[in-house]
Amino acid sequence: MADLSTDCAGIKSPNPFWLASAPPANSGEQVMRAFEYGWGGAVWKTLGQDPAVINTTSRYGAVDIGGMKMAGFNNIELITDRPLEDNLKEIYEVKKRFPKHAVVASLMVPCERKAWHDIVKRCLDTGCDGFELNFGCPHGMSERGMGAAVGQVPEYIKMVTEYVKEKSTIPVLVKLTPNITDVRYAARAAKQGGADGVSLINTINSIMGVDLETMKPKFAVGGKISHGGYCGPAVKPIALNMVSQIATDPETRGLPISGIGGISTWADAVEFMLLGSSSVQLCTAVMHYGFRIVEELNAGLEDWMERQGFEKLEDFIGKTAPSVVDWKTLNLHQKTVASIDHATCIGCDLCFVACNDTAHQCITIEKKNGNRKPIVIEEDCVGCNLCSLVCPVDGCITMAEIKTGHKPLSWEDYTKNGFAGYKEVYKRMHG
Ligand SMILES: Cc1cc2nc3c(=O)[nH]c(=O)nc-3n(C[C@H](O)[C@H](O)[C@H](O)COP(=O)(O)O)c2cc1C
Repeated sequence: MADLSTDCAGIKSPNPFWLASAPPANSGEQVMRAFEYGWGGAVWKTLGQDPAVINTTSRYGAVDIGGMKMAGFNNIELITDRPLEDNLKEIYEVKKRFPKHAVVASLMVPCERKAWHDIVKRCLDTGCDGFELNFGCPHGMSERGMGAAVGQVPEYIKMVTEYVKEKSTIPVLVKLTPNITDVRYAARAAKQGGADGVSLINTINSIMGVDLETMKPKFAVGGKISHGGYCGPAVKPIALNMVSQIATDPETRGLPISGIGGISTWADAVEFMLLGSSSVQLCTAVMHYGFRIVEELNAGLEDWMERQGFEKLEDFIGKTAPSVVDWKTLNLHQKTVASIDHATCIGCDLCFVACNDTAHQCITIEKKNGNRKPIVIEEDCVGCNLCSLVCPVDGCITMAEIKTGHKPLSWEDYTKNGFAGYKEVYKRMHG
């Protein structure tokens, strides 16, 4: 049987599935129930010392895409509004009952050394396994100089991480905001401050829409809204990119990562792990379907590992990261063309329209006996994938690799030969 246990920055858990810091991990009763279902760890809903944590109604919003409910989820919630003492007592109780599970205290206090020292010292008494510094929440608390207001300034990330490391005797994860230009600077600052690892992503600034009847923002509070934080399945590709950026950056390579953002299935989780995450955190999927999804997560991961011949998570964590490279090194001689299976084609014309109106005009329609048959003009096809992406029939349009006989050649190789080299390859590819 595959071993699902993990060690993320020194925080150990029986499996890599952790509740993200959010409403599902807001009390001891919830976290214990989640552990009974099979969750490996929990990052507690962010703790602070701000007496004015007062939430609005409404506070959540969502976009449904096609038949998918909550494809994107939005919130304007603050950190926990429960008393710190209650949370600390419950963390202590959870750790006593579940000593092998990971319990991570998420923290957010003002950027003052004493405030961080105080909360770290109080939390250490609970026996929690690690800290996660919330430098990510983009709404509400950021207006008070916390959360994303810290995570958007590398100097502050480094400074506050140092404050925490001065007192912490347990591992420290820094939770990063995606609301920045280049996440690598934030991760480097966390590392320089002494972080044992990073977790990402927190939520993305968002407005969920406007009601066209009232012309007020959707999910408003008395007709008004402030931007919220976006998460759920829609954000997964953004999170995967940021995880891979940190996993491949020479300055942070090897820094443990807890991957977060749009994970709903074991397969999503494996993608995060292949790109470098040693634990994964879930919020929206749990808020949508409940704690029970972890049974499927554990079983699916175990099955996949057995099929692949992996005995433990380290056998594959980060395996895909080296395949994420700079564009300039991609092989320009790689050639794929669309191939249409006419037995399954329903003649909807979407591939033709997409190619003809918006891509490279390399599909024609053959009309015979009242039937319309799309035909790919192979020599013109640039292999952009668009027709296969718009095709409503699974497997009807596939992209087939063509052997060109040319040696791999990248943009970097081109420029070594100067513009002459570029012209020659362009001619070879485009005639
Ligand atoms: C309602 C709600 C409340 C959240 N509260 C917190 C919080 O207190 N601290 C924190 O670090 N992140 C918070 N988050 C962000 C999540 O921990 C997570 O980073 C984000 O939702 C992305 O994961 P997901 O796509 O699985 O939801 C919250 C998210 C939601 C939806």
